[in-house]
Amino acid sequence: MSANKESWGSRVGLILAMAGNAVGLGNFLRFPMQAIQNGGGAFIIPYLVCFLLMGIPLLWIEWAMGRFGGRFGHHSTPFIVQEMDKKRKYWKYIGTFGIFTNIAVAAYYCYIESWTLSYVFHSLFGTFDGKSQSQVAQFFTDYTDIYTSTTGIPYEAVVFYLICVLLNTYILSRGLQGGVEVASKIGMPLLIVFGVILAIRGVTLGTSGAPEGCTDCDSFLGMNYLWEPQFDSLTNPKVWLAAAGQIFFTLSVGMGTIHCYASYVRSKDDVALNAMSAGWMNGFVEIVLGASIVIPIAAGYLGLGWVKEKAGFAMAFQTMPYLFEQWGTFFSAIAGMMWFGLLFFAGITSSLAMGTPWMGFMQDEFGWKREKAAWSFGLFTTVLGLPSWIFGLDKGWHEINMGADIKVPEFYRFVIKYVTPLLLLVVFIATIFNPQGGDWGAAISGLFSGQGWSLDNGSIIAQIMNKGLVEQIAATTDPAEIAKLEKNMFFVNLGRILLLAAFIFIAVIIYTAKKRRESTDNL
Ligand code: TRP
Repeated sequence: MSANKESWGSRVGLILAMAGNAVGLGNFLRFPMQAIQNGGGAFIIPYLVCFLLMGIPLLWIEWAMGRFGGRFGHHSTPFIVQEMDKKRKYWKYIGTFGIFTNIAVAAYYCYIESWTLSYVFHSLFGTFDGKSQSQVAQFFTDYTDIYTSTTGIPYEAVVFYLICVLLNTYILSRGLQGGVEVASKIGMPLLIVFGVILAIRGVTLGTSGAPEGCTDCDSFLGMNYLWEPQFDSLTNPKVWLAAAGQIFFTLSVGMGTIHCYASYVRSKDDVALNAMSAGWMNGFVEIVLGASIVIPIAAGYLGLGWVKEKAGFAMAFQTMPYLFEQWGTFFSAIAGMMWFGLLFFAGITSSLAMGTPWMGFMQDEFGWKREKAAWSFGLFTTVLGLPSWIFGLDKGWHEINMGADIKVPEFYRFVIKYVTPLLLLVVFIATIFNPQGGDWGAAISGLFSGQGWSLDNGSIIAQIMNKGLVEQIAATTDPAEIAKLEKNMFFVNLGRILLLAAFIFIAVIIYTAKKRRESTDNL
């Protein structure tokens, strides 16, 4: 049994840490881009439906599972699921995802987090002052490009990455109350203050920043595009899939993170209301703040047409600093500090959460000290996986309502039993078989007319086969370019092999832990 007797210090601390887990780069970068790429207002209705019918139920389920497992001294997915149904011996291996996914995502997440930290400094020290739009964009390209750097190692990026990982490790080694809760209590309020200030600026910008001759440079146009509901999207599977994907990512459900955080909730404490509080706080930050910064500001200066065509993830780094420059040297430094600062807080409170499942597991099963567990997390690296959840409904319903401060509506009993699992299954299958361009109508008629199913390069099957890169190589004639693409392919495959190795490694550790348990049980 675990020697790990930690628990959350206060309700505020718990909610802020859970909200910090959910509120991440997804809220400020992923959400606006998903919304733009899926038709603006067309995206919002499926998004809200997925939030209510899939997101909220999953939050309850995972909080309840976590607290239940914590009662038996389990602090990560594998033995939490095992405890729920002792007869199903293999479920704990499905729980491997609950540790693996977190570590995999943490690796790339910390990387982006480190850019935000570096950009806080560059904003404050005026690196972007006087730079043209393309120079600001180029700065980012140079910052991250291993090919242009003469030594082959982008030193500054590496240094900031290491600082970030060390910071995460240090905070995690201080434990929940002394580390994660403190970070959340500082980070979350500041994030909201910065976010509100930037959102007000975004929304009130109007046409005041429009360069001469630009007819669609208006921040209101940006807001309208996001908020004007378009009902025709309701029949488009591509939009639904994107909405469901965003809900998973932004709430961090299906990842094992919530299991772990919730396992430190004491049995007599509420999960029903706390889960809702953290979930709605995430919703507020995403829908109200996340939607009111990048899109309206970019639309105000560059026009809605530009935004629709060019909006993407890197915009946060390549375009925003240039737009802030329009506010003068002083305010651009402040705005840059606030924007990258809020991204940094959003990022770190999520990456801390990603570190805890691995730590909880090693502490529970191998008696590791917190410090050692934190440092080993700091050393671990890799990328993405798949969600896992399982819970017998009646047991679950009881667990959700136990010690609850609100009564969960009966309606949700039905949702959790039928609607949520169905949605999950559909999303799962759709991600694997996503057709070309997300055009399901064409793909289905193609299938019936004997042309087979044309996979999108973003579908999981096509990704595993490197379809995109293979096509690019086939279409290129320049040998230098081909060499570069082949090098990329090599790194992509190497990343995958590492990933698979990490997964197998964790599964083996779980097996070892199981053997250890059996031998101590027999004593
Ligand atoms: N929810 C976070 C965001 O919106 C991301 C996140 C937090 C996450 N914990 C996770 C993603 C665990 C995958 C796994 O950015």
